[in-house]
Amino acid sequence: MHILVTGGAGFIGSHVVRHFLKSYPACRITNLDSLTYAGNLANLRDIETLPNYRFVKGDITDSGFIENLFSTESFDGVIHLAAESHVDRSIADPTAFVKTNVLGTVNLLNAAKTAWKGNFEGKRFYHVSTDEVYGSLGTEGMFTEQTPYDPHSPYSASKASSDHFVRAYFDTYGLPVVISNCSNNYGAFQFPEKLIPLFINNIRLGKPLPVYGKGENVRDWLWVVDHAQAIDVIYHRAKTGETYNIGGHNEWTNIDLIRQLCAIMDRKLGREPGESVKLVTYVTDRAGHDLRYAINSSKLQRELGWVPSITFEQGLEETVEWYLENEEWLRNVTSGSYTRYYEEMYGGR
Ligand code: NAD
Ligand code: TYD
Repeated sequence: MHILVTGGAGFIGSHVVRHFLKSYPACRITNLDSLTYAGNLANLRDIETLPNYRFVKGDITDSGFIENLFSTESFDGVIHLAAESHVDRSIADPTAFVKTNVLGTVNLLNAAKTAWKGNFEGKRFYHVSTDEVYGSLGTEGMFTEQTPYDPHSPYSASKASSDHFVRAYFDTYGLPVVISNCSNNYGAFQFPEKLIPLFINNIRLGKPLPVYGKGENVRDWLWVVDHAQAIDVIYHRAKTGETYNIGGHNEWTNIDLIRQLCAIMDRKLGREPGESVKLVTYVTDRAGHDLRYAINSSKLQRELGWVPSITFEQGLEETVEWYLENEEWLRNVTSGSYTRYYEEMYGGR
């Protein structure tokens, strides 16, 4: 079994690569990543010397490169995570999101279709997507797999478009696809532009915590290791053409989550209770800010038996500990010096 993981140097991708290598020692993993600001090979230091792992630097928007990779390697499956993933960046530069998330996905679909030549026996194209494609909920209800798409940000619009292309390749060409739509992830190795690692870093440094609007938006948080486990279960056991929602039944308003985070940080840093929360600074709301996401993942639980392994309280505690123990990782990422790692490790290759 040889699986191509795209975006494996990013946050979720690095957990997926690690999970598959450890769970399936007989499986070969090729990690294809262009190493944007969000890709960091230091996320994979503990597994990079395993004999069944290989890193390839390449851009999914480069169709010639992708076609060549598929014709020289023989992949049984693709787990596609490479994407531009931050909503605020998508508001600043939507085109980059169309290029990578839409065009890049279509390039991979074309390459898989060509390489597998209509013989799809034992093949799988797994597209990793987000609950943000469903839009925004009011105070009631949850997203199911039947919820109509209603994306609002350039990020979610580009992911929605890529999901439609993946389904179109199943309907039109019979490409053996599966899709999952997951809620907000948190955990180790997340780039500190997303809420939880950004705020952990700012609390550590005593910097302001910029809360958008009134902090009343709700997100449904899932530990990234549980997402990787769900991807494993879906990759191996889902029926072709199916979609699964993944979520932790774990809704928090931003401000409640931030208060919880501040309390944990006060304790871990030996600060007076209430010290860190003073850093909260309300700032102008994000444009088009979705009010609430909540995932109904009962299909995944019922059909494939997946449930999250830990509570949010445990996961958040563990996550804070990881960032505090890995200050060097944080410092390298925030200073940008991690980009030199590729040259040091892979220079000339
Ligand atoms: P991330 O931004 O941390 O990582 C993305 C990775 O893709 C990086 O390593 C980057 O270098 C790589 N990449 C970007 N453009 C590329 C290109 N053109 N060619 C090759 N590689 C490229 O993102 P993440 O949070 O790990 O998200 C991974 C996937 O999961 C995305 O598809 C995202 O939409 C989806 N997702 C994320 C969340 C979340 O909460 N983070 C939730 C649900 C779904
Ligand atoms: P984020 O981590 O960017 O994920 P997403 O936008 O994909 O849900 O943001 C999570 C929530 O936190 C979202 O409602 C926006 C809010 N937020 C802030 O209030 N301040 C910040 O600095 C950031 C990055 C996010």
